[in-house]
Amino acid sequence: MEFSIKPGSPEKQRSDCLVVGVFEGGKLSDAAQVLDKAAKHYLSDIIARGDMSGKAATTLLLHNVPNIASERVLLVGLGKSSEFNAKQFLDAVRAALRAVQATGAKDALFYLTELPVAQRNAAWNMTQTVIAAHETSYRFDRLKSKADKDKKPLRKIFFGAISKTDAALDATVQQAVAIAHGMNLAKDLGNLPGNICTPSHLADEALALAKTHKSLKVTVLEEKDMKKLGMGSLLSVTHGSDEPAKLITLEYRGGDKKAKPIVLVGKGITFDTGGISLKPGAEMDEMKYDMCGAASVLGTMQAIAEMGLKLNVVGIIPTCENMPSGTATKPGDIVTSMSGQTIEILNTDAEGRLILCDALTYAGKFEPDTVVDIATLTGACVIALGHVASGLFSNQQSLAQELLDAGEQSHDRAWQMPLWDDYQPLLDSNFADMQNIGGRAGGTITAACFLARFTKDYRWAHLDIAGTAWKSGKEKGATGRPVPLLTQYLINRAAAK
Ligand code: BES
Ligand code: MN
Ligand code: ZN
Repeated sequence: MEFSIKPGSPEKQRSDCLVVGVFEGGKLSDAAQVLDKAAKHYLSDIIARGDMSGKAATTLLLHNVPNIASERVLLVGLGKSSEFNAKQFLDAVRAALRAVQATGAKDALFYLTELPVAQRNAAWNMTQTVIAAHETSYRFDRLKSKADKDKKPLRKIFFGAISKTDAALDATVQQAVAIAHGMNLAKDLGNLPGNICTPSHLADEALALAKTHKSLKVTVLEEKDMKKLGMGSLLSVTHGSDEPAKLITLEYRGGDKKAKPIVLVGKGITFDTGGISLKPGAEMDEMKYDMCGAASVLGTMQAIAEMGLKLNVVGIIPTCENMPSGTATKPGDIVTSMSGQTIEILNTDAEGRLILCDALTYAGKFEPDTVVDIATLTGACVIALGHVASGLFSNQQSLAQELLDAGEQSHDRAWQMPLWDDYQPLLDSNFADMQNIGGRAGGTITAACFLARFTKDYRWAHLDIAGTAWKSGKEKGATGRPVPLLTQYLINRAAAK
């Protein structure tokens, strides 16, 4: 899909579909007013007749509007103008995109980006529209024998600008497209089933990314390499599986040669059965999404490579399956992590932390400025925060704030939870340095506290994306989150220097 900014008066523009907003109560947006005047009150007459109330996210498609050069005009309800905020804007944009995509329009001219959204600007409105356009047109049909074919897909979106536009907005649009592409990659990998998206498949994807983007260098460690590094914790998780585990590293050096990198570490369990602590059968298929942290690292690395960000970033992906078998790790087994700390594995289903702890120790080798890990780590996080916010933990408040801000900016939000030492005794073990579970209470926090024992040497944050990485039910599918949050954080870090 292509995007560009088109200045000029709306009534004179030729497009397949022109999109303008109407507030609840019938108040026309600026662009709608210009159209209405040119069309001799055609729009206000329709509103007076009661066919468009302006209620949030409703739409009305009009054809052959007098004195308007575009073939169609889509009116979009914006809700109450006094309450017009980010959520209302996004609801309206998504409704508009769906309505346009249901027509035969191949291009559309949007006049929603100039709307005044509380605490946001035109750049934000455009970024969100670019992302929403990719989201509403996303299909995952490559595994169907016959693809669901759209007759004429929407190919081009123009952002109409009545007033003069800022040249910097073109760069904003290009950045937004890179973020949307990164999200699409993360979604595709998340949606692929466990029999296709294996650890080897993730390694191949990383190698393919490095082929397309010469700025990326990829290395893949095998189990024998991990054994040499002493990664007894990671290897204990893959022990019951026939698929070989991989440790993937992607290095992007876009910044100063000497600048310390920001390291992203993504959980890559390509299928989580729970191991010997087997999960119940219902909805177990969703555990193919247990590699969405890894997918978000790949999506983010692709996005920053595509936008040529001036920053040094390293992506690390520990990836394997968690399977039960005759060789699988058993409850009570004790392993030695790369850090030298020993772990009593009381529950083989708490496997994410077991692969992450060794990857986090490995991350120290890159002399990181900051390390952020991303993981579908705990079901408890879904109970705590639902599907709206990702859980955020950090051993440095300034880093937590930067990630919270990036989440607000990108509308891919996180919510901070405590990492207090008071929780640490829950991980005490009678037989090893620690156990891998802390009981039912505060399950998301004790999982983060476990990781904190391996990240003392650097500035670190942890994102628990169990509730935000995919949707269940009728709309089942990966969301591409938190690629927007991570990419925004990296954009901010690059701009800060
Ligand atoms: N991948 C799961 C976490 C998960 C569960 C994400 C459900 C999304 C939905 C993780 O490996 C896991 O199984 N965690 C256990 C930890 C427990 C055994 C301490 C959990 O959350 O039940
Ligand atoms: Mn598990
Ligand atoms: Zn898991």
